Amino acid sequence: MIHATAFAKLNIGLRVGGRRADGFHPIHGIFQSIGWADQLAIGAAEQDQVDSAHGELVSGERNLGWRALLAAREASGANQPLSMVLDKQIPVAAGLGGGSADAAAALGVGARMFGLDAATTLRLATELGSDVPFCLRGGTALVSGRGEVVDSQDPLSDFALAMVVPPIELSTPTVFAEWDRLGGPTAPSTADRALPPSLRSHGPVANDLEPAATALAPAVADWQDQLRHAWGRPVLLSGSGPTLYAFFVDLDEAASALSGVPSGARDVRAAAPVRHGWVWSDGGEVRAPDGSVLHDWPGDLSPAS
Ligand code: C5P
Repeated sequence: MIHATAFAKLNIGLRVGGRRADGFHPIHGIFQSIGWADQLAIGAAEQDQVDSAHGELVSGERNLGWRALLAAREASGANQPLSMVLDKQIPVAAGLGGGSADAAAALGVGARMFGLDAATTLRLATELGSDVPFCLRGGTALVSGRGEVVDSQDPLSDFALAMVVPPIELSTPTVFAEWDRLGGPTAPSTADRALPPSLRSHGPVANDLEPAATALAPAVADWQDQLRHAWGRPVLLSGSGPTLYAFFVDLDEAASALSGVPSGARDVRAAAPVRHGWVWSDGGEVRAPDGSVLHDWPGDLSPAS
C-alpha cells in the first residue's frame, strides 16, 4: 500500500490570453503548492475499487485521481486490479486544483508502481488536465502554455496565507467562457508593497479571471470587499475561484486573521507554501516525488505547514 499526500495549488496571479484554436487559453502565472491536502491510499486489490474515506466521492470514471491511476496502468500494459481510497480535504470547484492534485499524486504513484518513464508520465499528466503537470512537480513555478510548461523557481517561504472559500462553486470552463464573453478583460495588479518581498521580483501579480469569476458570482466580490476591510490588505482570487486569500507573515498571524472572517464561508484555512506537489510513503519514510527521503517531514502524512 502506498500513501500519498496531494497538495492544493494556489495561483498567485494569472495572466490569460485569447482562446486558442484548441479551445484552451494561454496562461502565465506563479503557481504555488500549499499545505492543504488530500490523502490517497493506493494498492493492489482483487478487483478495481475506488472509495472515499468519508462522505461523497466523485466516483469511478469521473474521479480524476482514479482516472490518472488507470491511465498509468494502461500506459504500462499491466492489468493488476487496483484500489484507491481518497480522503478529500481540498474543497472542490474552488480554484485550488484539488482534482488535479489527486490526479498528479495518483499518476505519480502509478508511474512508480508500473515503471513509467518521466516523458510518458508528463504526457499523461497533460492529457488529464491543465493543472496536473504543475501538481506533479509542485513547489513554486512559473507556469505557461495551457499549464503544461512548468518552470520551477526557488521555494517561497516568507509568508503564510489566510484562505477563505466563499459558499459558491465555480467551474473552470464556465469562468474561461465568461472571460471570453467579457472580451478578455485584464485585472489590475496588486501593489508591490502589499506583496511578500520574495514575490516582488516576479513582476505584477494580477488574476485576469477575477472579472469573469465576479461577473458570474457577484457574491465573490462582496466577500473580497469584506475580507479586505477585515484584514486591511489586498485579497486575491486563486485561479477561476472562488477561493480568496491574503498574505500574512506566518501561520500564527494567518490563523488569527481567520477569526475576522464573516460567517457562512464554505471553508477557511491558514496554509503555508510547501515544496512539493505531492509526497508519498510505502510505510517507511516520507519521500518526495523523485524518491528522495524527506528527513525533516513530520512523521505522518498529514498536510505539512
Ligand atoms: O485542462 P482542464 O481539463 O483542466 O481544463 C478544463 C477547461 O478549462 C478546458 O476545457 C477549457 O475550457 C478551460 N481551460 C482553458 N485554458 C486553460 C485551462 C483550462 O480555457 N489554460
